[in-house]
Amino acid sequence: MTDGTTSTTYPPSEEFAAQANITTADFDAAAADRVGFWADRSRELLDWEVPFTETLDWSNPPFARWFADGKLNVAANCLDRHVTAGLGDRVAIHFEGEPGDTRTLTYSQLTTEVKKAANALASLGVTQGDRVAIYMPMIPETVIAMLACARLGAPHSVVFGGFSSDALRSRIQDAEARVVITADGGFRRGKPSSLKPAVDTALSAGDTPVEHVVVVKRTGEDVDWTEGRDTWWSDLVDSQSEEHQPQAFEAENPLFILYTSGTTGKPKGILHTSGGYLTQAAFSMRATFDLKPETDVFWCTADVGWVTGHSYIVYGPLASGATQVIYEGTPDTPDQGRWWQVVEKYGVTILYTAPTAIRTCMKWGDDIPAQYDLSSLRLLGSVGEPINPEAWTWYRRVIGGDTCPVVDTWWQTETGAHMIAPMPGVLGTKPGSSQRPIPGISVKVVDDEGRELGPDEPGLLVIDEPWPSMLRGVYGDPERFKETYWSRFDGVYFAGDGARYDQDGDIWFLGRVDDVMNVSGHRLSTTEIESSLVAHDAVAEAAVVGAADETSGQAVYAFVILRAGAQQSEDMEQTLRAHVGADIGAIAKPKRVFIVDELPKTRSGKIVRRLLKDLAEDKGIGDASTLADQSVMEVIHRQVTGS
Ligand code: WTA
Repeated sequence: MTDGTTSTTYPPSEEFAAQANITTADFDAAAADRVGFWADRSRELLDWEVPFTETLDWSNPPFARWFADGKLNVAANCLDRHVTAGLGDRVAIHFEGEPGDTRTLTYSQLTTEVKKAANALASLGVTQGDRVAIYMPMIPETVIAMLACARLGAPHSVVFGGFSSDALRSRIQDAEARVVITADGGFRRGKPSSLKPAVDTALSAGDTPVEHVVVVKRTGEDVDWTEGRDTWWSDLVDSQSEEHQPQAFEAENPLFILYTSGTTGKPKGILHTSGGYLTQAAFSMRATFDLKPETDVFWCTADVGWVTGHSYIVYGPLASGATQVIYEGTPDTPDQGRWWQVVEKYGVTILYTAPTAIRTCMKWGDDIPAQYDLSSLRLLGSVGEPINPEAWTWYRRVIGGDTCPVVDTWWQTETGAHMIAPMPGVLGTKPGSSQRPIPGISVKVVDDEGRELGPDEPGLLVIDEPWPSMLRGVYGDPERFKETYWSRFDGVYFAGDGARYDQDGDIWFLGRVDDVMNVSGHRLSTTEIESSLVAHDAVAEAAVVGAADETSGQAVYAFVILRAGAQQSEDMEQTLRAHVGADIGAIAKPKRVFIVDELPKTRSGKIVRRLLKDLAEDKGIGDASTLADQSVMEVIHRQVTGS
C-alpha cells in the first residue's frame, strides 16, 4: 500500500454535493447527542408497531440493548409497509441468473412470496426463536426464505454455499437448527453446481436436530431424496395462503446468526438482533450510498452467505424500498464483460463490490468495460479488505467515468453495518483510505495501552461507544464474546484491525493484527486451516500464513511436516490442498503447501509465523533471532525455493 501522506483527494462535484442525503449538519447533530441521533434515525427510517421509549441500555456492558421496549416486525419493515405506502409496483429485485434467465419481483410480489413462505415454514412448526439454516445459491428464494424467517421471528443462519458439508454440519449443530432450506444447486461458471448432496452428507450421521429439508428446484439435476424429511419448496410454498399477519417482536429479538472465522479454530456464531441492526443497515444505505429509492438501481455483488449480502442485499436495500439487482454467477461467465453488461442492462446507479474483484477486472483490461455504457453509475463502493490506491483510482476512472465518488467502507460481520466510510457529499474521497466514522459512530486508533495515537503512528482500531447494529454476542458463548472483543482494552470494542491516522485525521487500515486472514475479502482463520491439515493422516505439524497477493489481497500458504513414513511426493501438495477444500470449502484451499522438515519455533515452542510469511512473500529470511535454532530457517528456505 502507500504511506498515504501525499494522497490526492477527489471532492464531490457541486451537483453531487447539492443533492446529497448527508451534510455536515448530520455530523453536528450526532456529535451533540449521539444516542438521540440514533433514536431520531430509527423513528424516521423504520415503522415501529410499539414505539420505544428508551434508546440505549448500556447498564450491563458489553451486552447492549437498543430500543428495547419497542416492537417491530423486520420483514414488514422491508415489505408490507412499502406496499401500504403505494409502492407495490416498484421493482424490488431484478434477478439475473448466470445462464441468462431473469425474474423481476415488485414489492407487492415479493411481499406475497414472503407471506406464503412464512405460512409454509409455520406449517413445519417454525415459530419465534427457532433457528433455520439456509444453504442456497444466489436466487430470489434465498431472500424470500430469509425474510420469511424474519417475519416469524425465527433467526436464520445462512451458510455460504461454497462451504463443505462438514462446515455446514458444524454450523447446523452449533445453532441447533431444525429446518434447512437449500436448493438442488445453482449455476456457477456455466455449469450446475450442486448443493443438496452436501446437505445430505451433513445430515447423514443423524447427529443434528434437523427434521425438515426444504429444496428449491433451480438446476433440475437429480437429487437423492429422504422421504419424510425432504420437501420441494414449490410443493410446500405454492399452495399456501397469500395472507399472513406479521407479528411485532421486541427490538432485541434475534434476527440472525452468521458464522465467521476468529482466531481459534471454531467459527463463531455472530448474533444480530432486530431494531438496532435494521436502523443502521437502513441509515447506511441512505448515508454512505446516498440512496434515492425512487430513482436508484443498487447492485451489491456479494453473496448472501456473507454479512455484506445480509446487510446490503437483504435488509438495508429492502428496508429502504430500493430497487436492486441480484446476479447469480461469476463476473467472467460467459465472458469478462458480464458485470458491465448487467450494469448497462439494468441501468445500475450504485455499485458495491470488493477490491479483489476490482483488481481482477483491472487485470482483464480497460477495453472490456469500455464496450459497455456505464454512464448510469453515480456512486461506487468497496468493502472487505483495504483497497490499494491503484485499484481505487482505476475503479473511479474506468468504471466511474472519473466522476463517481468511491466510498471505501470498513465494517465487520460483528458490526452489522458500515462503521467507517466517507460521506460522499461531505468529504473529498481519498484513494486507499476509509477516512472517517459515519455520523453516530465513535472509533479511535490506539496504542497497546489504549492511548489514542497521533498521525502516522500505526496502532489498533477500537470502537469506543456502543452502536445500534453491534453484535449482541457469540451464539451460546457469552464468555467468548467478552474475551474476544472486550478484554483487550477496558470497556471498548477491539476490532482486530491495525490502523493509523494520516495528517488529515483520516483512517487507513493496515490489515488484521490477529490470526485472521483475508483472502478475496473472505475471512479465514489460520488455526482452522492448520487444524484441518493436521487432521490428515500424513501430517504431523502444520503452520499456515496469509501472504500478500496481488489479486486476492492475501493468499493462504501452508508449511507442513509429514509424519514419519508418509510419502513425500508431488501429489502430496495436491492431496493436502484438496483435503482442506473438502474439509472447509474451496475458499480455504492453500495456494501452496510446502512440505518441510522443520518449523521455526521459539524456545517455548511457539511457531514464528512472521518468518514463514516473509518466505512466502519472497522477502528471504527475516530476523530469526528469537528462534530456538536459527539454522532452521536456512533449511526451510532451501526446501521452499528448491535451491
Ligand atoms: C476487513 C466484511 C480494510 C477487516 C464486511 C475487517 C476491511 C474484516 C474493509 C471483516 C475495508 C473489511 N478496509 N479492511 N474497507 N472492510 N475489512 O467480517 O480486516 O467478512 O476486520 O466483514 O475485513 O470481515 P467480515
